[in-house]
Amino acid sequence: MTQDELKQAVAKAAADYVAANVPAGSVIGVGTGSTANFFIDELAKIKGRISAAVASSEASRKRLTSHGIKVIDLNEVEHMPVYVDGADEITAGLAMIKGGGGALTREKIVAAVAGKFICVCDQSKLVDTLGKFPLPVEVIPMARAHVARELEKLGGKPKLRENFVTDNGNVILDVHGLVITGPAAFETKLNQITGVVTNGLFACRGADLLLLATPDGVRSMGR
Ligand code: A5P
Repeated sequence: MTQDELKQAVAKAAADYVAANVPAGSVIGVGTGSTANFFIDELAKIKGRISAAVASSEASRKRLTSHGIKVIDLNEVEHMPVYVDGADEITAGLAMIKGGGGALTREKIVAAVAGKFICVCDQSKLVDTLGKFPLPVEVIPMARAHVARELEKLGGKPKLRENFVTDNGNVILDVHGLVITGPAAFETKLNQITGVVTNGLFACRGADLLLLATPDGVRSMGR
C-alpha cells in the first residue's frame, strides 16, 4: 500500500469512529495536514451527523467549507467530544511531535477543549523516542534570537523555518538533534522560555486514541 492509501484508510476509520461514538449534532475539532485532509474528505460523507466543525488552521477551514461543512469559532463552543488530527511522530504512550505544517498553536488550543484527541497516522509515524523529526517551536518574532540561544543551551540545534509565518503572525524554529526521553517535562520546560508561544510536543495532553494505518489494517491503540 502507498502512504496515501494508508492515510486514506485511517481517515475512513476515524470517520467511522465519529459516526459510531459522537452524539448526533455535535461540534468536532479538525486538525491540519495531509492525513487531516483525507479525514475532512471522509467527514464530508457523514456531515449530517455533526452540526459544525472547529478548524485548527485556515487551510482546514477552507477545505471544510468547500465540502459544505459549517465551521465555527472555538469561542462559540462549550463542548466538543473529539478532536481528530495527525502527528509527525507518536510513541506507544501517545506523546506526539506536531507542527510540521506550522499549525501547532491552534492545534494545541483546539485539542485542549476536546474531550478526546483521536490521532490518525500511518505506521511510519510510530517511534520509540521522539526527536528525530525536528521539533517545531512557535516564537514571537522579536524573541527569535533569544529563544534560539536558550534552545541551544538545552542541547538542540534550532533552524528558522524560511519564508514561513504562522496563522498567528509568528515564526517557527525547527529544533534538530533532540532525543526526547521525558516529553511531558521537556514540553513544560520549553514553555518557560520567554518568547515561546507554543512548542510542538503534545505530551502533557497527548492523544487518547491512536488509529494507526498498517498494510494489515488500522490498529487502535489507547491509553
Ligand atoms: C500540522 O501542523 C501538523 O501538526 C500535522 O498534524 C502533522 O504535521 C501531520 O501531518 P501529515 O498528516 O501531513 O503527516
